[in-house]
Amino acid sequence: MNDSLDARIESLATLAEEARKEFATATHEEQLNQLKARYLGKSGSLKTIMESLKELSPDQRPILGKTVNQTKQEVLQALEDRRVQIREEKRRQELAHRWIDLSLPGRQRDQGAIHPLRSVTRELFSIFRSLGYDVAEGPCVEDDFHNFSALNFPPDHPARDMQDTLLLKNGALLRTHTSPVQIRTMQANRPPIRIIAPGMVYRCDADVSHSPMFSQIEGLWVDEKVSLADLKGTLTTFARRYYGPDVPIRLRPSFFPFTEPSCEVDVGCVFCPRGGSCSVCHDTGWIEILGAGMVDPNVFEAVGYDPEKVQGFAFGLGIERVAMLKYGINDIRLLFENDVRFLRQFAK
Ligand code: PHE
Repeated sequence: MNDSLDARIESLATLAEEARKEFATATHEEQLNQLKARYLGKSGSLKTIMESLKELSPDQRPILGKTVNQTKQEVLQALEDRRVQIREEKRRQELAHRWIDLSLPGRQRDQGAIHPLRSVTRELFSIFRSLGYDVAEGPCVEDDFHNFSALNFPPDHPARDMQDTLLLKNGALLRTHTSPVQIRTMQANRPPIRIIAPGMVYRCDADVSHSPMFSQIEGLWVDEKVSLADLKGTLTTFARRYYGPDVPIRLRPSFFPFTEPSCEVDVGCVFCPRGGSCSVCHDTGWIEILGAGMVDPNVFEAVGYDPEKVQGFAFGLGIERVAMLKYGINDIRLLFENDVRFLRQFAK
């Protein structure tokens, strides 16, 4: 009986030895796989010896079992070692035949950058957010009510001509300003309301400083007590944060149908040394940045608010204009043409 145990252990050793030799002669991974099946597979040599276990006495079985397992581990290890060798050899050969020119310049990836209009908008958002404003939005395709009537433009009022409206076939129109968002927001909410509304607006107009499509940010604050002083304070804070702490602002009387009183707001020209000759402000020392005013009682009535109980101010600024002044851009169309030579200058 012992004989047969020893013989089997002996044959396991021989098997491991043979396997190792054969592995060494294999030159491809597929060969190795075949050898693996032959030695370790379901009908492989190791399995045959394992199956003869039952011919041994119960006390011999664990001895052989253990040896079979050890042998299996050794064979597997030898196989994996050889696999690594084969792969390394293959790689060495590939590298020896492939010529790599290390002096070639690398592939350059184009990196995107934030469009100047977008970065100005973000900056304006963050300033107004810090003053407690939420962002609101409205549709670009509007109706007469939201764009004009509710904003106190009577049907034949010449103020409608101030903005050359692009009409659509179905009687709708492309909004000429972001002020209709004031109406939509007030219709859907009760005061207090404090919003800014960014968006594209459309007018039939085109030259170096006018584009048929441009963007505005509308501001609206409605509460029980809101005064012109609040408007001035808000816009002063905005101008100082955006253009610098020492920038002066002034309010000039103006007219908008939906605000009363109305004003236009200028900031001190950031381009010229005061008194010099400046093509941006034409030596006035001031640049107009926005229109504003106290919400007209008729507007409150149009949205169902009691003008005796609420007050508010609104303002609207042109984002392109703000961006042009900030970056010294002299043609509005540059902002829409998306010429990368222009845009690249804003990549950080
Ligand atoms: N909607 C006005 C325009 O487009 C700007 C504005 C907004 C003026 C809010 C006053 C108050 O010219």
